[in-house]
Amino acid sequence: MQTIALSLEVNGQFVERQIQVRSSLADFLREDLRLSGTNLGCEHGVCGACTLDIDGAPARSCITLAANCEAKKVRTIEDFQNDEVMAALRDAFSREHALQCGYCTPGMLMTARDIVMRIPFADEARVRKELAGNLCRCTGYSGIVKAIMSVLDARSNQ
Ligand code: FES
Ligand code: FES
Repeated sequence: MQTIALSLEVNGQFVERQIQVRSSLADFLREDLRLSGTNLGCEHGVCGACTLDIDGAPARSCITLAANCEAKKVRTIEDFQNDEVMAALRDAFSREHALQCGYCTPGMLMTARDIVMRIPFADEARVRKELAGNLCRCTGYSGIVKAIMSVLDARSNQ
């Protein structure tokens, strides 16, 4: 199998590796870097479980070639341990029963954080629209939407 050199920043660390040319970013992170917080569901760009952050915007790592991430800044769920917004979202997800099996949760949290940062005055309809690319087979979404709305409300009252 053909390989290629890749260098990029992952969670604030410079990383340089020889990778398979056809490796997805998700496989590279999970298998080469052992960052297993990014989950894989459909592997076809549909479910959003693999959502992470590339250069400040959410992206689906299952359909992103690792080789296309040369010199980019990638952040996975592991990098948000001390992030204030993510901490508020984690608490809200827990409080509002926004997860059951938790498989969709890393991707859901990444999208939720993007909503909170990018659309601070989003209403419920907008939150639901923004979440359209993240599927959850357990919760029925209402807890997820409530959790995100509660973080938006708390921040707008600060
Ligand atoms: S695993 Fe990437 S969108 Fe489903
Ligand atoms: S909590 Fe199970 S898929 Fe969302």
